[in-house]
Amino acid sequence: MPPTPRVWQVCAACANRLPDDDAAPQCPLCGGLLEIEHPAPNESVDSLRARFDARCCMTGVGAAQSGVWRFAEVVHPNASHPVTYPEGNTPLLSRDAVSAYAGCTGLLLKHEGMNPTGSFKDRGMTVGVTQAKRIGTRAVACASTGNTSASLASYAALAGIPALVFVPAGQIALGKLTQTLAYGARTLLVRGDFDACLTLVRESSERLGIYLLNSINPWRLEGQKTILFELLQQLGWDPPEWIALPAGNLGNTAAFGKALREAHAWGLIQRMPRLLAVQAEGASPFWQSFQDGFATRHRIKAETVATAIKIGDPASYDRGVAAIRLSNGVVARVTDVEILEAKAVIDAAGVGCEPASAASVAGVRQLVSSGVIRASDRVVAILTGHVLKDPGALQWYHQAQEPIPARANRPVEIDATLSAVERVLENDTRGSERRHA
Ligand code: F0G
Repeated sequence: MPPTPRVWQVCAACANRLPDDDAAPQCPLCGGLLEIEHPAPNESVDSLRARFDARCCMTGVGAAQSGVWRFAEVVHPNASHPVTYPEGNTPLLSRDAVSAYAGCTGLLLKHEGMNPTGSFKDRGMTVGVTQAKRIGTRAVACASTGNTSASLASYAALAGIPALVFVPAGQIALGKLTQTLAYGARTLLVRGDFDACLTLVRESSERLGIYLLNSINPWRLEGQKTILFELLQQLGWDPPEWIALPAGNLGNTAAFGKALREAHAWGLIQRMPRLLAVQAEGASPFWQSFQDGFATRHRIKAETVATAIKIGDPASYDRGVAAIRLSNGVVARVTDVEILEAKAVIDAAGVGCEPASAASVAGVRQLVSSGVIRASDRVVAILTGHVLKDPGALQWYHQAQEPIPARANRPVEIDATLSAVERVLENDTRGSERRHA
């Protein structure tokens, strides 16, 4: 039998070390966040890359098809029975209309909305729930703006473990709430915002001995690292200049920082791409901190149309700061109008994404226009969630908002007659002639 690799959970604040099967969601000594420490891979870079590349063919069932477990050695080497949908293997897309909008010819979109429950959360959840099962927990829990809860509900169902979720009442998108209910999680609609839900779930899981699966859980981040490993692999391990992602609780920003640190240390990449973390203007405490070189941590009351990132006190703040510093990164903020406009462009290109996801493209556009990103730079923008997650935002934008947004696609109600169809088509033709005159 091969020796079991020594993998530790290490406290980022006080360096306390816990074995990899300890159930503590955070450091029992000081309350700091834990991070998984892997030994450096015991093989050459070429052989590691070749191993990862060989697993891309997706033959077989279960974990063999997963874009997360393909990287098992650097994610969770001691997981013998992964709880997998499977997940990952998301496409890297090039769409002229989106590149032109962002002003960046080398823009690629990594569509994490193509994961099984429609968001990148599945990558973290397959690892988190695998760990929950491994340590024999009786139940799992999370607070969520909707995507984490949908993902947790699905993976808990796959594992046969009861799930308890805390979501802010009336503040999460319809697709996400209904998914969570459908997959069978016990769902608590909390009268409060996401930040209140997170405080409550942390207290509850500690008191009730329920395994916490928010992104403060270090195993979640191990799974989310694979967004980065997979996109680097798709680019032949030749990193782009920039990687842009929406930022809320900063779990993903933290995961990207760790993935870059490890990929660089292990020789998988020779050059460090720069991270661009993009927040919504009404939910931008991380952006505020970036303004003074992270001298001050800010906590605010969040408000934005992008409910996925409506977060005022990001839990992974310190690791987010480390990720931005490591990669010489930038934190930007964009308005709700910019988010919805970028989303309309991404949607109309036939790609589609949820509002928060479009913040990444809106952020790229802003930085190209201010000259920080060059038009010729290679940039990967992460689309974090599927277009069907938030039908309410779509209905508002296309069917209700006044004055009508320039990119709204208003449906037309007609009588059931051919002449009515002809009138609509004639109007469309005239309108298009006017636009091109
Ligand atoms: N994009 C989407 C679609 C999200 O759902 C989230 C977070 C983010 C971006 C931001 O990622 O929090 O790691 O900085 N959603 C969490 C949830 C908070 O509960 O679903 P982050």
